[in-house]
Amino acid sequence: PAPGWTVDADVVVVGSGVAGLTAALRCTAAGLRTVVVTKARLDDGSTRWAQGGIAAALGDGDTPEQHLDDTLVAGAGLCDEEAVRALVTEGPDAVRRLIDTGALFDTDPESGVIQLTREGGHHRRRIAHAGGDATGAEISRALVEAVRLASVRTIENALVLDLLTDADGRTAGVTLHVMGEGQHDGVGAVLAPAVVLATGGMGQVFSATTNPSVSTGDGVALALRAGAEVSDLEFVQFHPTVLFLGADAEGQQPLVSEAVRGEGAHLVDADGVRFMLGQHELAELAPRDIVAKGIMRRMREQGAEHMYLDARHFGAAMWESRFPTILAACRSHGIDPVTDPIPVAPAAHYASGGVRTDLHGRTTVPGLYACGEVACTGVHGANRLASNSLLEGLVFAERIAEDIAAHPASPGPAVRGEEAPGPLLDPATRIEIQRIMTAGAGVLRSAESLDHAATALEALYRSAAAEADHRDGGDTGDGDGAKDAEPGVDAWEATNLLLVSRVLVAAARAREETRGCHWREDRPDRDDDWRRHLVVRLTPDRTL
Ligand code: SIN
Repeated sequence: PAPGWTVDADVVVVGSGVAGLTAALRCTAAGLRTVVVTKARLDDGSTRWAQGGIAAALGDGDTPEQHLDDTLVAGAGLCDEEAVRALVTEGPDAVRRLIDTGALFDTDPESGVIQLTREGGHHRRRIAHAGGDATGAEISRALVEAVRLASVRTIENALVLDLLTDADGRTAGVTLHVMGEGQHDGVGAVLAPAVVLATGGMGQVFSATTNPSVSTGDGVALALRAGAEVSDLEFVQFHPTVLFLGADAEGQQPLVSEAVRGEGAHLVDADGVRFMLGQHELAELAPRDIVAKGIMRRMREQGAEHMYLDARHFGAAMWESRFPTILAACRSHGIDPVTDPIPVAPAAHYASGGVRTDLHGRTTVPGLYACGEVACTGVHGANRLASNSLLEGLVFAERIAEDIAAHPASPGPAVRGEEAPGPLLDPATRIEIQRIMTAGAGVLRSAESLDHAATALEALYRSAAAEADHRDGGDTGDGDGAKDAEPGVDAWEATNLLLVSRVLVAAARAREETRGCHWREDRPDRDDDWRRHLVVRLTPDRTL
């Protein structure tokens, strides 16, 4: 749709988690006119839900090299080593700058030294945390405050629709659908030669996820429609320990941080047996994919819907001081971790893949950048190492700001991107997509389950396209069962979810091996012919 209003800027940052707000602060500090647009409020996104912490080689005896080794092992042969090296060597100073920005991490009361914990796949205590288990909330608070203090222009309740490009295919801005923000209501555009996608993940493609409801793959969908390359979407990370609230639980589920295992909690089965012992040298602290698989296997063997995380030995005082958020979440669901083992099961948590970038966060479309969960910088490979995600957001946001400041651009007028984003889906389709994806492309996959998912998703797409054709032919849909999807946030979210689900399933079908968090029951082994990336780009008419 043609924009009803426009705002001019040097850079528009889409998203307001750790990656987006860090990029915005650094761009502003470099003298760039920066606008942040975000789908809900500034602090709604995944960052504020992060519990465990942020990984960096800050401890005595730890080194970036050891952090690199752990990251490469977790990534199961698919990490880009240069990208990981940038992450781990720049990480410690990036965390110190975050502290200078105002984030308060937990410190030893006597020495004042930052406290560090462990999580899966780390051979050392390397995870800085805040508020015990509320690290993301503290980072978000500090960054939102800093953005306000720096008077960075922000537009909230703004769903990004599409990328605007000039006649040479250079980025010229984005179109937005804004609700309830006064002068910037309705469909408008921010015109800028640089666009930074920091829209977070796509956990909402599954029924049960740790992600908030806003994580609908909007950035990946926009990038695909703009012709950018997307990579590694098949590598969806399932967090091993999500509070089990019933097999039919849908939407955002409470996380039970890996840091609980880092502090000594045990995973036990229905008989109270520690089943991760002997499966990996790190037992419960093996990389996340191995623990998730261990849990799923034992659930199958016992015909159980969940396993248990036992941390009764922490005692009430430790639970209250170290894990207050998790304690409150469990208690609000009638489980007291001080006296009961916590029922847990894996749920969708993190997209290890995303919009493909180079070491400066540049995508394959000139002027379009991506950082944070929406991006595939190469640091996660086939399975992200715990607590590397906040760090990646920080480090690559800073790299992007430097690159934008160093390469000023002046695109011509926008000639592409104002057309509708394809057939718009009825918002009710969201739940259907989630069920299809959970059944066919969840933690356990096979050719058969993925074929079913692909067929069902194609049927949804065709039916939406047929309805759109109907509308274009002047039919309102009344009387013949065809439904018009009103343009609006819910319809665009459902449309984005379908697009990213189709690409994810196509990649998961193509990768005929098991690697990292991609688990094919029919191809149970790693196959080194598959030590490569699946890169997807839509054709110019936007078909797969
Ligand atoms: C957690 O606290 O377990 C989540 C950490 C992460 O996803 O990196």
